[in-house]
Amino acid sequence: MPPYAFFHKQFMPLSEAKIGILTHAFHYGTACFEGIRGNWDSERENFCLFRVDDHYKRMLNNGCRILKINLPYSINKLCQLTVELIERSGFREDVYIRPLAYKSSETIGVRLHNLEDDFLIIVTPLPPYLGTKGIRCCTSSWRRVDDTMIPARGKICGTYVNSALAKTEAWENGFDEAILLTLDGHLSEGSGENVFLVINGKLVTPPSSDNILLGITRDTVIKLAKNELDIDTVERQVDRSELYLAEECFFTGTAAHIVPIVEVDHRPVGNGETGKITAELQKLFKEVILGRNPKYLDWCTFLAKS
Ligand SMILES: Cc1ncc(COP(=O)(O)O)c(C=O)c1O
Repeated sequence: MPPYAFFHKQFMPLSEAKIGILTHAFHYGTACFEGIRGNWDSERENFCLFRVDDHYKRMLNNGCRILKINLPYSINKLCQLTVELIERSGFREDVYIRPLAYKSSETIGVRLHNLEDDFLIIVTPLPPYLGTKGIRCCTSSWRRVDDTMIPARGKICGTYVNSALAKTEAWENGFDEAILLTLDGHLSEGSGENVFLVINGKLVTPPSSDNILLGITRDTVIKLAKNELDIDTVERQVDRSELYLAEECFFTGTAAHIVPIVEVDHRPVGNGETGKITAELQKLFKEVILGRNPKYLDWCTFLAKS
């Protein structure tokens, strides 16, 4: 089966879904997107879509509002389209679903008003984005875009130039990922992940006011830590040097899942190995995103078996 896309209000083979070179979003980054996981359970031979409605809520309520994009779809309809796309595509491995709402007019002129909007979804196989082992990070020389520049609350395409600059700088310097600071030097987030520290046995993570995307995995981890491990999370401003002193450190994100950070700026985090709390959270998270933990089935959408 060829992979399919939802494009121009219909399903079609991905190879036929093309945009014109004058498309506004292509020139000016005037689009917002989501990243949703379809987790393949090889034992049950089924997909579990994780918190798909929360992803569409974030897209419609944050990105589309900021960019003045109006879509003719309810959250329910968007979820249905996503399920149908995966069913048509016939993958049997972990997938990443990329819905994208964009300014589709084929015209020159930077603005948000008097432009047409459109929407597409693609799906592609994707293993854990940063691998499954502990990673080495650096603090970036690039600062995270401020809410007064491009709000991080929506996954706005143009913002990802900031992420790309930081990611490539990190990679060229031999690191796996970058951690960006705010303009005033506090921890913000990774190029595509939220960051957590373990300090005195509690989770600590930057607040929304430090220009982070309010991650759905971040929210999941905060809830799992509290409900399952009785560990509180403190959302507060975090200094760079706290990264060097934390007992454990990890990233969270839909593409990356939970990934341990074992080294920052050439300093080992804790003993330089995956921490105990990080490992416990990884284990819990894996069960939850496959829909194997009955307490969290509200977060899961299973595909009908063919
Ligand atoms: C900049 C940024 N921060 C954080 C995240 C993690 O968010 P989520 O857990 O909702 O995928 C992402 C990924 O979507 C991201 O692009």
